[in-house]
Amino acid sequence: MKEMKVFVTRQIPGDHLEKLKEAGHEVAISQFDRPLSEEELVEKVKGTDAILSLLTDRIDGDLMDAVGSQLKIISSYAVGFDNVDIKAATDRGIMVTNTPCDEVNEAVAEHTWALILALSRRIVEADEATRRGGFKGWEPDIFLGINLTGKTLGIAGLGRIGLMVARRAKGYNMTVLYNKHSQDPEAERELGVKFASFEELLAASDIVSLHVPLTDETRNMFRKDVISKMKKGSYLVNTARGACVNEHDLVEALRSGHLAGAALDVFSNEPNIDPELIGMENVILTPHIASATKEARDKMGEMAVDALLDVFSGKKPQNIVNEEVWPNRRKW
Ligand code: GLV
Ligand code: GLV
Repeated sequence: MKEMKVFVTRQIPGDHLEKLKEAGHEVAISQFDRPLSEEELVEKVKGTDAILSLLTDRIDGDLMDAVGSQLKIISSYAVGFDNVDIKAATDRGIMVTNTPCDEVNEAVAEHTWALILALSRRIVEADEATRRGGFKGWEPDIFLGINLTGKTLGIAGLGRIGLMVARRAKGYNMTVLYNKHSQDPEAERELGVKFASFEELLAASDIVSLHVPLTDETRNMFRKDVISKMKKGSYLVNTARGACVNEHDLVEALRSGHLAGAALDVFSNEPNIDPELIGMENVILTPHIASATKEARDKMGEMAVDALLDVFSGKKPQNIVNEEVWPNRRKW
């Protein structure tokens, strides 16, 4: 097998990269404990056959051209691939792979539930107050939250993660509404979820949770006029992509009391967060960690490396995002 040059844009947990070295490939790993700047990235990827990239890297056609015509695969250590220009890759015969797997989907679904529970019971606020010495003994009216039992959860996007969130809602005896392009009769049968138009879902849900990928259609999906259709006093949870929610409009809705709260793991302009959100007590913020479990990150590393090894040995990788590139892929 020909020796391939791989650039890894940042060290990843686990020892999966060793497999590439053991297979005789040349692996260079960024030495910085931060994302590379555009200039640094261009410099580092030049002349490589493969890039193992993270969702914090912006990979566009210009970057692909800067790498050179030997670039064969971009193995993205992530489920979402909105940071990679897929069309540009396909046009150039470059394969793009990602790392969707049960471990990640479960981690994201579980984090979504951690946020829903923390929101409904005001766990973060209560913890902060307790640490500040605010616990004066049992009181009848402090940190009143809501029971989830009997409430309605609205799932926008019933893909693999949305399904896992829905399945877990059964344990809380919630009514689950979902909206997606096409109805899912199997999920309806198995999980008792009900299809709703987007507007019906917004109007009826006590908690709306987003599980859509970021596309032209979902960018800015939750903006002023849409948020205003959400039930008064409801909550918004976002573990999908920040750009699906207009942060400014969300802040307005939280400030006016139209929404009771929000829990966000993702932001429009990461790592920057609207300062107003940071100041709000009814908002829970986590730093894009929904997939941050040992199991998920280990599996992501395994899959990202396996995709490279498959491609290097002439095999079609399992999680190819731009399937149509396969017959037209760059040959070597
Ligand atoms: C995380 O956001 C991912 O897409 O893997
Ligand atoms: C699958 O949908 C699961 O909840 O594990």
